[in-house]
Amino acid sequence: MEPVVYVKDLQKVYELGESERVTALGGVDLKIESGEFVAVMGPSGSGKSTFMHIVGLLDEPTSGIYRFEGSDASALTADERADIRSRRLGFVFQSYNLLSRTTALENAELPMIYSGVPEADRRRIALEKLAIVGVESLRDHAPNQMSGGQQQRVAIARSLVNNPGLILADEPTGALDTKSSKEVMELFTRLNREEGITILLVTHEPEVAAYAKRIITFRDGLVVSDRLRHGEPVESGKVAA
Ligand SMILES: Nc1ncnc2c1ncn2[C@@H]1O[C@H](COP(=O)(O)OP(=O)(O)OP(=O)(O)O)[C@@H](O)[C@H]1O
Ligand SMILES: [Mg+2]
Repeated sequence: MEPVVYVKDLQKVYELGESERVTALGGVDLKIESGEFVAVMGPSGSGKSTFMHIVGLLDEPTSGIYRFEGSDASALTADERADIRSRRLGFVFQSYNLLSRTTALENAELPMIYSGVPEADRRRIALEKLAIVGVESLRDHAPNQMSGGQQQRVAIARSLVNNPGLILADEPTGALDTKSSKEVMELFTRLNREEGITILLVTHEPEVAAYAKRIITFRDGLVVSDRLRHGEPVESGKVAA
């Protein structure tokens, strides 16, 4: 089976005016297989979000190869990229990004409108995913009627509705208190273990990263460490299940 994510010598350089350039990614090689649960760590400015944006097909590298589920990102049209984003990728953000004045159920249904799931199926699937993350009783609540942890659960349910091949989460616990962070990470762990969902998340917090099976550390746009939770290094380009 093709890896979910394959990147080879991935570089991203931002040009700021005539002479100033920022190398956000300086040549990253990584493979992430289906079923993995990976945390990305590293100091501020080390390229974590840049990497996530490229993997999420929200941005393009300056050079290097990126294949998502075997398709070469550089060969995709804008429509094909949008299609993969909506059908094969789930996004979870630090700030939840739920629509206000819109219920949990409607928020969870939204990605299925874009991906063309028939209306008759949307409600059923959204309810099923809200139940999986444990917030089905909040189906008629708007975001301002929910705690941060509950909103993040709804956002996770929303990320699941199209059965993505990969969930990308940039600092998903960044706005949560310790207890809610723990609950959200237990939820990701369960989704990975029981539903086999592949997860790639960014965090600054070692306690959060400790839930992942594999921890990749970035520094100055490069991968400086890639280890399984228990410490064994992951051979470059080779990956554990
Ligand atoms: N749109 C942009 N234009 C110019 N430079 C950028 C842009 N986005 C990111 N950068 C620069 O690229 C580098 C990597 O940024 P990135 O956002 O990937 O870091 P990060 O590891 O996610 O940091 P943080 O932990 O603070 O979120 C930084 O030096 C940043 O200033
Ligand atoms: Mg970032």
